[in-house]
Amino acid sequence: MKIKKAVFPVAGLGTRFLPATKASPKEMMPLVDKPLIQYVVEEAIDAGIEEMIMITGRGKNAIEDHFDISFELEHTLKGKNNNKLLEEVQRISNLVDFWYIRQKEPLGLGHAILRTKDLIGDEPFAVLLGDDIIHSNVPAIKQLIQVYEKYNASVIAVEKVDKKEISSYGVIAPKEIEDRVYQIMDMVEKPPPSEAPSDLAIIGRYILTPQIFEALEKTDADKSGEIQLTNGLRRLLKHQVIYAHQFEGKRYDAGNKLGFLKATVEFALRRPDLGKDFREYLRSLRVDEFMS
Ligand code: G1P
Repeated sequence: MKIKKAVFPVAGLGTRFLPATKASPKEMMPLVDKPLIQYVVEEAIDAGIEEMIMITGRGKNAIEDHFDISFELEHTLKGKNNNKLLEEVQRISNLVDFWYIRQKEPLGLGHAILRTKDLIGDEPFAVLLGDDIIHSNVPAIKQLIQVYEKYNASVIAVEKVDKKEISSYGVIAPKEIEDRVYQIMDMVEKPPPSEAPSDLAIIGRYILTPQIFEALEKTDADKSGEIQLTNGLRRLLKHQVIYAHQFEGKRYDAGNKLGFLKATVEFALRRPDLGKDFREYLRSLRVDEFMS
């Protein structure tokens, strides 16, 4: 079955980026000049996905406005004959449909996904987390779709991470079945390093079968009161085979300050209109002078 729908959980409070995120969503923070959320939406579009479902919360209206038509802006750009920018702002709202669902309380990723049950219905779907920005030749979610099409089962993105960072991630117990593809034998959400079953961390890209909803409905909240997607998947594992794909590409953790800065610098360096000047500027910097 073709993957037609993608879910974007965007209800998080963005506390790691306060005060920037006090009155505007963290998903609207730009890498150079494009908001984080647009990178992940474009990744889904490039993979042939047609319907985008955002799970939002209070204070996230800017995301809806961003993907809507903007009459005033488009009118002004038309008047100024600025067709390049006009095309740029019209492109996404013309290409795909957007749906918005409110997650009224911050009860975790699993709880957020469960809100989409009626909209998704009985078909497999994609989940993309905006904190993980992936630069790759083939969109990461498309790489997962290719594995899904081969095995007809849920597929989760994984990446090798340092042992000292493993407790920030869901971690899988893998059985390798082909190059970069694993059958998941077990998984655990944010284990202490000593209990991590491998160094393969779950990254925010998933292809899920609709049976995940039933599994999530039966999944209890954890100690922090949140329903974890990892725990829902662990339950699903009792009934269905789930695969992990070690995707090709460079992943940035734009959900923390250092990762966000690295992504900003590297995306700017790749830009044809900025890269050359920015590279020269970086080379001229005497970085040690900035140490206090
Ligand atoms: C979520 C998931 C976690 C996964 C991570 C990837 O955690 O719960 O399993 O490894 O995304 O970015 P979060 O980073 O939202 O706390």
